[in-house]
Amino acid sequence: FRRHNLNQTNPAITLDIRSIEFHRASYEPGDFPRDGRPQIAVVGRSNVGKSSLINAVLNRKNIARVSQTPGKTQAIQFYLINSQFYLVDLPGYGYAKVPKIIQRTWGELIRSYLESAETLRLMIVLLDARRVPGEHDLRMHGWTTDLDIPEQLVLTKTDKLSTTQLNRTRAEIATEMKVDAKSLISFSAVTKRGIEELRRAMYSKL
Ligand code: GTP
Ligand code: MG
Repeated sequence: FRRHNLNQTNPAITLDIRSIEFHRASYEPGDFPRDGRPQIAVVGRSNVGKSSLINAVLNRKNIARVSQTPGKTQAIQFYLINSQFYLVDLPGYGYAKVPKIIQRTWGELIRSYLESAETLRLMIVLLDARRVPGEHDLRMHGWTTDLDIPEQLVLTKTDKLSTTQLNRTRAEIATEMKVDAKSLISFSAVTKRGIEELRRAMYSKL
């Protein structure tokens, strides 16, 4: 009996969304929930598609605000799912127009979240399938590795690439991030590609 294999082949064993409650927006460590519930966080550069992915996973149109202006989500947003776990929308990083002082606060806020979130079960790191991972992506990846936080890398906006382009980019990003290309989830909020794979990855950590 191998649970891992079962998870990948049995569609019944996946995340089933029964209720969603907006818990709160937090700007400082004192505001983070500490009720012992498991947490799954989503992070990535500004405009990578975090809010769109959260809406898709939760199967709702606008739980998380999708922005036209990059860098809009500045706080940590906590959503309580099925009264069971928190889905955590972390602020985007690396938006050039954000002043340096805010970029520094970003790093401090994320670090303090990572260090204090004892029930963080999975960090979902989003990477734009069309871009080379940047300095912040590598730093984020380094932090989750250092702190031993399980990580799922997800390539977003894959609907913008052909199959050939996507295969090439998967290999390049895997090399850059020093992971196995097979571990990457190819995702699209438009076509919903990869959504079940992602829900199963989340479910397996709860
Ligand atoms: P911030 O909160 O501002 O950091 O952005 P975000 O990472 O939450 O990105 P958001 O979901 O707001 O999406 C940014 C832009 O990309 C929007 O115009 C979305 O419509 C678009 N977008 C998001 N996901 C996809 C996708 O899978 N495919 C395509 N084609 N566009 C997408
Ligand atoms: Mg957002």
